[in-house]
Amino acid sequence: MTGPAATIEAQAKLNLYLRVLTREESGYHSIETIFHRIELADQITLHVEEDTLRAIDVQGAAVGAAESNLAYRAAVAYQLEAEWPRGFTIELDKRIPVGSGLGGGSADAAAVLRILDSLARNPLGQTKLLAIAASLGSDVPFLVSPEVMALAWGRGERMIGLTPLPPRDVLLVTPEFQVATPDAYAWLDEDRPSDGDPTRYSSSDLLLITEEMLASWGSIAKLSRNDLIEPVQARHPEVRGLLDALKETGSFICSMTGAGSTLFGIYDVLPDAAALTEFSGATTKRTRTAEKVVQPIRIG
Ligand code: C5P
Repeated sequence: MTGPAATIEAQAKLNLYLRVLTREESGYHSIETIFHRIELADQITLHVEEDTLRAIDVQGAAVGAAESNLAYRAAVAYQLEAEWPRGFTIELDKRIPVGSGLGGGSADAAAVLRILDSLARNPLGQTKLLAIAASLGSDVPFLVSPEVMALAWGRGERMIGLTPLPPRDVLLVTPEFQVATPDAYAWLDEDRPSDGDPTRYSSSDLLLITEEMLASWGSIAKLSRNDLIEPVQARHPEVRGLLDALKETGSFICSMTGAGSTLFGIYDVLPDAAALTEFSGATTKRTRTAEKVVQPIRIG
């Protein structure tokens, strides 16, 4: 028998700024990043089951076994912590490109946690949700948080929420190749000078981020960088051409999100369709930066 249910648009994210610092002993890298949600979202519905059925139905993308799906794993992790629900059915409509750096899998996992907490008689609350989120992946804590935009550090699980910037048009350019996140970080390690201490970073990396630097699109544009672009571009030279083409279209920020492969431009005025023909060999999608965090809607 089916219990309560809710649905949500699981918003994707962009990294407007991503600096990779030292490699920890665990193999993870310390990062500093600015996350911003975008309107592009997967549609996810979760039905609580009164029996022990656990199921996931994915449309829109070829994905692997249910048990390895991050949304399914999020429901299991919630169940372990809350001892509820007994079972669940997840319906997932994938619209966020997979393996693209837009945080699609993480958004789905965060959506499941937020839906379950909204349906629970005894919600776990934000702190416990963040802890479960961090155990699932580095991008999940931001996407489970109530923030549209945040400055994050650690592995990305420590955050300061920022005042969201006014919505802007975004063009996403997704090349044909995908990048596995561990590969991008391993390439970065490989390419960093190995003279002595591999964990050092240079004095040119020292930085003071002020409130003003985070308060407008103009100042964010000055800060914008992604340390994973170079290692990804070295293995996939077509990235340079695509980034150059994006710049030509008049974007005031043009970068790669996460470990890629999706590149993005942010615009005051989105170019017309003719200007987008430059991106042959890649798929383009228009979206906007989000103004709000979408909330779960109860449907049963
Ligand atoms: O946390 P997530 O599942 O996204 O990470 C996937 C892999 O990417 C990690 O196992 C690690 O190899 C690499 N990674 C990293 N440093 C980070 C985030 C990810 O080295 N801050």
